Amino acid sequence: MTTQKRILFTGGSGKAGKHVVPYLLDKGHRVVNVDLTPLDHPGVDNLTADITDSGQMFNVMTSYANFDELEPGNGVPAFDAVVHFAAIPRILIHPDNETFRVNAVGTYNVIEAAVKLGIRKIVIASSETTYGICFADGRADPKSLPLDEDYDVDPMDSYGLSKVVNEKTARAFALRSGFDIYALRIGNVVEPHEYKQNFPTYFANPEMRRRNAFCYIDARDLGQIVDRCLATDGLGFQVFNAGNDTNGMNIPTAELIERFFPGVPLTREMGENEALFSNRKIREVLGFDEEHDWRKYVKG
Ligand SMILES: NC(=O)c1ccc[n+]([C@@H]2O[C@H](COP(=O)([O-])OP(=O)(O)OC[C@H]3O[C@@H](n4cnc5c(N)ncnc54)[C@H](O)[C@@H]3O)[C@@H](O)[C@H]2O)c1
Repeated sequence: MTTQKRILFTGGSGKAGKHVVPYLLDKGHRVVNVDLTPLDHPGVDNLTADITDSGQMFNVMTSYANFDELEPGNGVPAFDAVVHFAAIPRILIHPDNETFRVNAVGTYNVIEAAVKLGIRKIVIASSETTYGICFADGRADPKSLPLDEDYDVDPMDSYGLSKVVNEKTARAFALRSGFDIYALRIGNVVEPHEYKQNFPTYFANPEMRRRNAFCYIDARDLGQIVDRCLATDGLGFQVFNAGNDTNGMNIPTAELIERFFPGVPLTREMGENEALFSNRKIREVLGFDEEHDWRKYVKG
């Protein structure tokens, strides 16, 4: 059973957020989206604010969600949780130092404000790029496969680095406060319309997906993962890979390894199509139950 929560969500207007926010609303949560631009979706409340400004983060986290909250006359209600997705989402949009600054400082500001205001559940967006393959100079091999949460992450780019720093920031605040701060290493996000649009091209050119280790996360399944994080208490600091059960590719796992990662050691046996970007932990710890296998939407 879902407990309805009052949630502050940063970056809800973006590619992932615009699917995750509606998922949370459908589950009965109240969601205040904090972004530089509002999300036009029924039922969501919007506040325009900048994560790189600490004062604004403390302020939005002590704000009414909307005019209706003025009515009871009991003052401002508290947030139950913060979900932090706002970021510069990759390298090569802004200069590298700006990507690092917005992501690292922004995440520090969001987590610090939430913890100091007593918000005991925080979920942040980390990234598959922490594994170092995605934005590597040249063709990087992982040290081992599958990619799981115990891996010693070592990106060489400013975006991946900012996400590793954010995980450390989360861990530091969780240690000091005892609150739950869960970092989701989000895989390559796929919106519903993108299966038909992009997957045939991926199938014709599998090399294109090597840098993502062939992973994907359906944007709606990402909603489920966030909701399960909100419902699962008491785990302190955690890192979770957020990916779907199988590779986003019509080639069996063993063949993918042989063709694209030859010589990379396996730490365990893998299922026939099991994702190289392992989602075992979200299935076992959070009870994630995939709803949007790509095979439902496009022919292999
Ligand atoms: N899309 C992917 O495949 C993917 C993969 C791994 C991780 N992620 C992470 O997931 C999160 C969401 O990604 P996305 O693809 O939706 O990105 P996006 O760029 O589409 O959305 C990010 C949102 O953050 C907002 N934002 C940026 N800077 C801000 C600031 N200073 N203050 C307030 N809001 C700001 C933007 O306006 C935007 O709406 C990000 O943290 C990203 O790094 C995304």
